[in-house]
Amino acid sequence: MPWKTIAAGTSTLASGDNSDPLNVLETFFWDSGAVSVTVVDAEDNPIFEPGPGETPVWEQVTVTGLFDDNVNVAEIEAALADTDFQFLYAETLGDKIWEREWLNRFEPMRFGRRLWVCPSNHQVEEDNAVVMKLDPGLAFGTGTHATTHLCLSWLDEHIKPNQSVMDFGCGSGILGIAALLLGAGKVAAIDNDQQAVNATVENAKRNDVASKILPELPRSAYNDTYDVIIANILAQPLIDLSGTLTDLMNPDAHIVLSGVMVGQKSWVKAAYEALGLVFYAETEMDGWVCLAATRSTARLGEEQS
Ligand SMILES: C[S@@+](CC[C@H](N)C(=O)[O-])C[C@H]1O[C@@H](n2cnc3c(N)ncnc32)[C@H](O)[C@@H]1O
Repeated sequence: MPWKTIAAGTSTLASGDNSDPLNVLETFFWDSGAVSVTVVDAEDNPIFEPGPGETPVWEQVTVTGLFDDNVNVAEIEAALADTDFQFLYAETLGDKIWEREWLNRFEPMRFGRRLWVCPSNHQVEEDNAVVMKLDPGLAFGTGTHATTHLCLSWLDEHIKPNQSVMDFGCGSGILGIAALLLGAGKVAAIDNDQQAVNATVENAKRNDVASKILPELPRSAYNDTYDVIIANILAQPLIDLSGTLTDLMNPDAHIVLSGVMVGQKSWVKAAYEALGLVFYAETEMDGWVCLAATRSTARLGEEQS
């Protein structure tokens, strides 16, 4: 069944009488029969990392309602004309299996020398390839984002046989599963979103590593320590979690911190250096940086030789 999208623009700045234009416009779309309402930035003002409890919106937004194809567009346009909102466009959307649409554009990707992430409708024909089967799902983590990319490249280069790994903020489970496919012995995968825990279970089964990975919600305390801690979250949660994550490290463990913007690097490093960690590597992509540290760099040379 085809659908109709109708878009209107507004400013989110309060108009002086305490009304919230965005809320009014969203409610107008819902009341007009929309089955979904989407708000996007009308300009180019990215919001990267809201503070705890903050839900900022852009100053100028485009609000799109998804309607049954039979919706009376002229009526909605006329109703908008009587308001301060600006009617932008209406268009017909052919019915599709939207999850597959994403998948159709998702090609195998290589990270480092041998690690590949490959959707189920593709194959990787390359000697020595380590191939992870992964389809985009509801949880974050397909490898297309720079922060994940940098972590996968680190794993490709550094994971050693039988190491134990903590994947903190596992999303789809991509990092923990990659570590197992590259030779790690066991992985603990933590996420505060149940959807991510479920996705990790499914993706681990698809890659035949389910018996070596334990996906779960965060705990108040952890009993084990690990050879590698990898966390692709964001700068502020990484700082907040610095004590928890360093407590999870074995004496010679590596910790890999991603999801950090270049301008935030010094804050994150300072939080972990205060706990005795020494940073020995950083890689950068699209304005994001991935940091690697140990308790002491003295043994790094021995490991690498
Ligand atoms: C940017 S995604 C990374 C997913 C995946 N590890 C990757 O590299 O693509 C961050 C994940 O961390 C989870 N997360 C954020 N804050 C967290 C916290 N305090 N404790 C546990 N998980 C958290 C989110 O739910 C999300 O799945």
